[in-house]
Amino acid sequence: MLSHFNTELSMTTESIYFTTPIFYINGNPHVGHLYTGVAADVLRLFNKMTGKESYACYGTDEHGPKVEQAFKTSKCSNINEYTDQMSIKFRDLMSLANITPTEWIRTTSEDHKKVVTWLWQRIEANGHFYSKKYSGWYSKSDEAYYKAEEVNNERAISTGSKVEWMEEECVFFRLSSFKNRLIEYYYQHPTAIQPESKYNETMGLLRQDLPDLAISRTMCNWGIKAPNNPGHTIYVWLDALTNYLTFINRLNKKNTEDFKELGSMVHIIGKDILKFHAIYWPAFLMAADLPLFSQIFAHGWLLIDKSKMSKSENNVVDPNGLLHKYGVDPVRYYLMKGVSFGSDSNFSIEELERIVDADLADKVGNLVQRVLVFCWNKYKKTLSARAEDYSEQILKDWDTALEKAVNAMKNHKITVYIEEIIKAVVQTNEYIENQKPWKLEDPSCTMSILCLCTQRMAIALSPVMPSTSDQIIKIMGIDNANLEHWNECKEIEIAKKPSPLFKKNAELNSNL
Ligand code: MSP
Repeated sequence: MLSHFNTELSMTTESIYFTTPIFYINGNPHVGHLYTGVAADVLRLFNKMTGKESYACYGTDEHGPKVEQAFKTSKCSNINEYTDQMSIKFRDLMSLANITPTEWIRTTSEDHKKVVTWLWQRIEANGHFYSKKYSGWYSKSDEAYYKAEEVNNERAISTGSKVEWMEEECVFFRLSSFKNRLIEYYYQHPTAIQPESKYNETMGLLRQDLPDLAISRTMCNWGIKAPNNPGHTIYVWLDALTNYLTFINRLNKKNTEDFKELGSMVHIIGKDILKFHAIYWPAFLMAADLPLFSQIFAHGWLLIDKSKMSKSENNVVDPNGLLHKYGVDPVRYYLMKGVSFGSDSNFSIEELERIVDADLADKVGNLVQRVLVFCWNKYKKTLSARAEDYSEQILKDWDTALEKAVNAMKNHKITVYIEEIIKAVVQTNEYIENQKPWKLEDPSCTMSILCLCTQRMAIALSPVMPSTSDQIIKIMGIDNANLEHWNECKEIEIAKKPSPLFKKNAELNSNL
């Protein structure tokens, strides 16, 4: 039935591995973290819907001075108690948002430590480390050294964080020797970093001086010990990035050394951590003779009054409260539709409420109510489409919308995907206005077409709003929201009058 779509859309058996950055546990989760988490979930579910084996990895980044510092100011009696408590908070948030990670990697877990140690030894055996005394301006919060010209008034110019003069004996990674290989690789793989602006930013960074990287620390004990370097802890970014390899090992249920799954791995990250993923990570992989990831997608930031929502800005919004008040699917929908994926956007409760009312209550919810309640009143069942119905313009409009939406998703344009589907929902509501089924002597033909439209909407929106879609497709007798069911329409008894899917905000707020 999907024959006129290009073949990539038809069910395939390929695998795709999405990753989110593992979250720092030096503070409570905020909406910015939820945003990355929802995006990876939507992409995983979308790919699953097109027939790919799709996986998504989440987790917590638990080592390093920031976490050690946060533990010291907590009420916990030991650091393990602190990390356990904090990791659970992030995991619980993801599950509250109906996100199901394939794996949850904690950098304090034993299997992860083994992979990090293995990677270190492999890079060392390949001759890419050396030891040297190091001194420079160090920012504890960025966990990075800065050059003198990058510092002004004891603050890093790029991030504004406080820096202090440090001296330590470090193991260095020969990052500079990978500069040309990285440039060459990205020339040959121009879509390896998305959006294009981030590809250009990476190329710009690579054209500048690329100094070797201090890869061990003696000042912070809280981390994985560097093999053969007593008193040295592995740099937290090498530790953290390796979680992507731990993920692969967990999936394979054994230790592998080829990590070929990297070739189908898409790293979803925020734009603030582009350098670590687009420069350090592939250099580490090259140094260990491992394959590179398939793609990095760097999304923008959620802003509050033009500043990044972050703990250090003290402007964070509690995601748990938001999910409890507005419901999981409306929040997921707002984050993906209202915050254009790939760009920065202001986070605003007014905009969330506006979008929930305008799109969900007035468009999506309205369509479901009109179609299914009408079917309930008149037939007590849904109606299945007949062969001749498929030539009806509104169904062709849905086919076009899906095709455009799917093409957008190939470039991870989640917001465009949703917009295309909503356009078709609007067209369907107009179709109802024009057809006026309530005035027809025999509305069965119109209603069978509308049942199919409603089902298509539920399937298409399922990666974004899985439980709402589930409710609709269950009423319609479909087991799974999957593109295979796009054209399948069953005649099935409706057990009870369908209730409205979304509450308008005036109603929500009046219940408080
Ligand atoms: N621990 C590192 C990642 C290591 S991955 C090998 C880290 N952690 S973080 O907790 O600071 O950020 C996790 C993710 O949340 C990042 O992708 C970051 O960009 C994202 N966000 C944090 N605040 C955000 C916003 N205000 N808006 C959108 N995303 C934001 O970095």
